[in-house]
Amino acid sequence: MSKVLIVGIGYVGLAQALLFREKADVYCVDASKERADSLSNGNYRLNDSLFLSRFGTIPKIETLTSLPKINPDFVLLCLPTDYDEQTRSFDTKALDEEIKKCSKMYPNSSIVIKSTVPIGYTLSKKKEGMSLLFSPEFLRENTLYEDVMKPSRLIVGYDDEKDKEKAKAYMDLILNCVEDKNVRTILSSSMEAEAIKLFSNEYLAMRVAYFNELDNFALKKGLNSKTLIEGVSLDPRIGDFYNNPSFGYGGYCLPKDTKALLSCYGDIPEDLISATILANEHRKQTIAEDIAKRYKGKTVGFYRLSGKKDSPNFRSSPMVDLLFLLKEKNVDVIIYEPIAREDSFKGYPLVDDFQRFVDSVDVIVASRIDERLNPYLNKVYTRDVSHRD
Ligand SMILES: NC(=O)c1ccc[n+]([C@@H]2O[C@H](COP(=O)([O-])OP(=O)(O)OC[C@H]3O[C@@H](n4cnc5c(N)ncnc54)[C@H](O)[C@@H]3O)[C@@H](O)[C@H]2O)c1
Repeated sequence: MSKVLIVGIGYVGLAQALLFREKADVYCVDASKERADSLSNGNYRLNDSLFLSRFGTIPKIETLTSLPKINPDFVLLCLPTDYDEQTRSFDTKALDEEIKKCSKMYPNSSIVIKSTVPIGYTLSKKKEGMSLLFSPEFLRENTLYEDVMKPSRLIVGYDDEKDKEKAKAYMDLILNCVEDKNVRTILSSSMEAEAIKLFSNEYLAMRVAYFNELDNFALKKGLNSKTLIEGVSLDPRIGDFYNNPSFGYGGYCLPKDTKALLSCYGDIPEDLISATILANEHRKQTIAEDIAKRYKGKTVGFYRLSGKKDSPNFRSSPMVDLLFLLKEKNVDVIIYEPIAREDSFKGYPLVDDFQRFVDSVDVIVASRIDERLNPYLNKVYTRDVSHRD
């Protein structure tokens, strides 16, 4: 059996651990003791019932807090790369450090970057003398099982002819583990693989921004957004998917990846990427103005803080940005968010009882409608026209 060491067991690292656990010896490392302990006890940050229904049981993932003395065949680096507004690029500090450490400690292993990185990052490391593969990850946090077991495509980037065999061996290991054996595969240069990841997320963000901008128009002109979208999407070149208006795109990846792609352009002409980022900011402002106009002086309730259905967290959520925009407009908000454990969020009261929440607000602002809201639809403010993400 191959030995796979995974460094950073967040969403991506966890998905990799679950993918490889039956066909390889998997070792996991996370710098956070709290995270390592909770994984070793079988507690994930995921929506456990959803996860359970897919996996059947909750597999425990023994997680260490420092690199083990083993000889792994593959080391997968699944570390955070937040966007740094000051340097206008991804913060790759954790990745830089772990690449250095792992290259020294595991000189015979294939080291694979799974984190999303700036285009040219892997090649720059090669110039520093470190041989790496880059394999972009496309999973969504609320459909982790589906995305990891039946991926849309598998891509591995390498730069040196001598790394081609390593890239193929890594691809073969993944193919051995996924459910869909006919998945399309691409071996490319590392820069191409890095670019594929960022351009994919830019397209998704642009598509969200497009349907939201259509919805801005419908909102202002009093048109039925659902009818417009249905009519537009019947063109098979456009397609009836990923076209449901929201309060803006959010989550960990789209906001930071669009900004990082923009900064990769440097002097190269571009318009669409900046326009996408700007359109997303304008969308949130349009929604905040609309809510303030309709409900100022009333009690506004936020149903969930995530922008997506079943999302296990609310990182960079448009709902959170909306809260701040409404604060500037002196609109009072209370929040129902069962995954938040505190009594308040950024100064706003959190109500933990759903019925009490519904009874105490004049309007329920919801990015996405779920079954619990069905009896109260006459009280709901949303732009979710098709009740799906
Ligand atoms: N979340 C997604 O849906 C998704 C999808 C595709 C790609 N990505 C990319 O994958 C990368 C990881 O994303 P994520 O969502 O899994 O992040 P995350 O924040 O959920 O997890 C990162 C983990 O790394 C740990 N960590 C930080 N520094 C460490 C170090 N030096 N050594 C060991 N562990 C360390 C953290 O404690 C955390 O548990 C990012 O670059 C992200 O852009 C994420």
